[in-house]
Amino acid sequence: MNTKPSPDAATAAVEATAARLRATGRRPAIAVLLGSGWGPFADAVQDPLAIPYEELPAFPVLQVGGHAGRVVLGRLGRHEVAVLAGRKHAYETGTADGMKAAVRSLARAGVQVLVQTNAAGSLTLALPPGSTMLIADHLNLAQQSPLFGEPGDERFVSMVNAYDAALREGARAALRGLQGQEPGLDAIGEGVYAWFMGPQFETPAEIRMMQLLGAQAVGMSTVPETIVARHAGLRVLAVSLLTNMAAGLSDEKLSHAHTLATAAAASARAVAQLTAIVRGMSL
Ligand code: HPA
Repeated sequence: MNTKPSPDAATAAVEATAARLRATGRRPAIAVLLGSGWGPFADAVQDPLAIPYEELPAFPVLQVGGHAGRVVLGRLGRHEVAVLAGRKHAYETGTADGMKAAVRSLARAGVQVLVQTNAAGSLTLALPPGSTMLIADHLNLAQQSPLFGEPGDERFVSMVNAYDAALREGARAALRGLQGQEPGLDAIGEGVYAWFMGPQFETPAEIRMMQLLGAQAVGMSTVPETIVARHAGLRVLAVSLLTNMAAGLSDEKLSHAHTLATAAAASARAVAQLTAIVRGMSL
């Protein structure tokens, strides 16, 4: 059965969702998409108003862990934000457009910046499990795109500066402001994120290939949303939480449970960093 909405239905869902978001009276300029381990960030939002994804037609139905996704509208310091708890991954369907309409609806509702978070495997000892990394660029090794089948010349969107250099500089400055608090709270790496579709983890040979290609982290998300966000005119900042050394780089056995356990242990520090980054963001 073909369950893909027609282009008209997809556009209608985007418009209806943007209208529903606007009807709250909130005006988020920044959206923060939470990946594995980043969930507690939603608790940092002041004056929260939560809307389940089911009430937003442009948002996906999520199956993972039985948790429905939700958008939490609220404030962080001087910024109005929309926090997205829950992402549809390409490995669930084999297509990269799971968050396409949702990201477009945010842009239509006035969002200017998409902040993405994820859990990722580390390709370098310089980024041990528990550390965080600003994504400076990506390798779309899956060679999938949410823009397959899009009409118009806008589909040929530039991926130069896809991860906004000024936003990354601002993030570093915000973290410097945390110096002198808990040791290492201001430390964040920067590197290239390689996207593999999954859901299986990589082979050690694939990891060696990614190292040769210049990647520092590997994961199963984020790239599709970055592409759609750039197409929609949003600026993007993305942060990885390294939950493990990638396949073949350590003796630990990779599993989703391991990813979640490491993410939970490192989550407080990562969330404190992200909170400082978003609060300090200049649009
Ligand atoms: N590979 C792919 N995705 C991941 C990993 C990994 O090692 N760790 C967390 N997400």
